[in-house]
Amino acid sequence: MSVDPRKVPTRTLPTGAKIPVVGLGTFGSDHVSGEEVAAAVLGAAEAGYRHFDCAAVYGNEHLIGRSLEQIIRGGVRREELWITSKLWNDKHAPRDVAPSFEKSLRDLRLDYLDLYLIHWPFPNFHPPGCEVTSRSPDAKPYIHANYLATWRELEKLVRRGLVRHIGTSNMTIPKLELLLRDAEIKPVANEMELHPHFQQPALFQYVVANGLVPIGYCPLGSPGRPARDRTPADTVDMEDPVIVKIADRLGVHPAIVCLKWAIQRGEVVIPMSTKPANYLANLRAAVLPPLPESDMQAIAGIDRNCRLIKGQVFLWKPGQTWEALWDLDGTITPA
Ligand SMILES: NC(=O)c1ccc[n+]([C@@H]2O[C@H](COP(=O)([O-])OP(=O)(O)OC[C@H]3O[C@@H](n4cnc5c(N)ncnc54)[C@H](OP(=O)(O)O)[C@@H]3O)[C@@H](O)[C@H]2O)c1
Repeated sequence: MSVDPRKVPTRTLPTGAKIPVVGLGTFGSDHVSGEEVAAAVLGAAEAGYRHFDCAAVYGNEHLIGRSLEQIIRGGVRREELWITSKLWNDKHAPRDVAPSFEKSLRDLRLDYLDLYLIHWPFPNFHPPGCEVTSRSPDAKPYIHANYLATWRELEKLVRRGLVRHIGTSNMTIPKLELLLRDAEIKPVANEMELHPHFQQPALFQYVVANGLVPIGYCPLGSPGRPARDRTPADTVDMEDPVIVKIADRLGVHPAIVCLKWAIQRGEVVIPMSTKPANYLANLRAAVLPPLPESDMQAIAGIDRNCRLIKGQVFLWKPGQTWEALWDLDGTITPA
């Protein structure tokens, strides 16, 4: 009923630290309570998980903290755990960074984090659960000087010994180019949407070529995402005939095929589940034999460029469409 955590593969970072290739996502969105997520964290640790992907905006770190405390009391050493958290978008102002980080640390009942990410490169507040048509009156585009000022505060947290690594999320190549040029402490990871129907090959290759670990979110195509995050054009990875055929041949759920492909491709994955059978199966995917190259190639061929988390709420000008957030022509969309 569990996987030996020592058998779960890891990726080694420039510091020598090792991040387990499967972590548990903890974003309960509107339909999974913080208590349920915290129970899943506890159960997942028993199942062999050592990596947990958290964020202040998920609103459940204070509950997950109780689970982490219990896990450590139960005999798992802190050094065996990999805990990520993220700075929310209304806390980019330099004076807000350390207090926000320290709140996450306190809520999680830890004295250091393994990884702290800037959740989005846009410093715009919007309330959790708001509709995609909602716009913040204070919305701002990406302004590199401001992002760098936020980053400098993350660097201070590293120097204070409060976080071992820092990284980015929802970035694009031109934004990462500027950060890699200017960072004194380099990001070690970029968390980004990745699943078979949204493979982001250019960004993925850029991230890997620059020594960052790609942490793939929504690795199963986020089947439980709320209605407001769905559009008629969205496709369903786990129903793709190529995925289903491989799953049938191997006698596994399509979810496992998505995860195996991602891990073999070089990603760290953070699937979310509160169902013990599912989160155990997801971790077990990491220790199953590799997919043959023919399967990897077949899955490489089903990319549909189908972004699910489009980020509309971060748009800063009337009349813009979500594509403006993602620098599709290779340059940062001008203010
Ligand atoms: N950095 C960012 O901006 C960002 C954005 C989005 C998400 N994330 C992170 O990524 C994590 C994962 O994303 P996500 O939750 O949206 O999507 P996901 O992991 O692709 O999908 C989760 C859904 O898949 C189901 N599921 C999980 N394992 C399964 C299995 N073995 N068989 C069948 N169904 C399965 C879950 O339902 P059950 O509970 O019923 O199993 C849940 O509804 C989040 O929790 C969060 O930590 C980060």
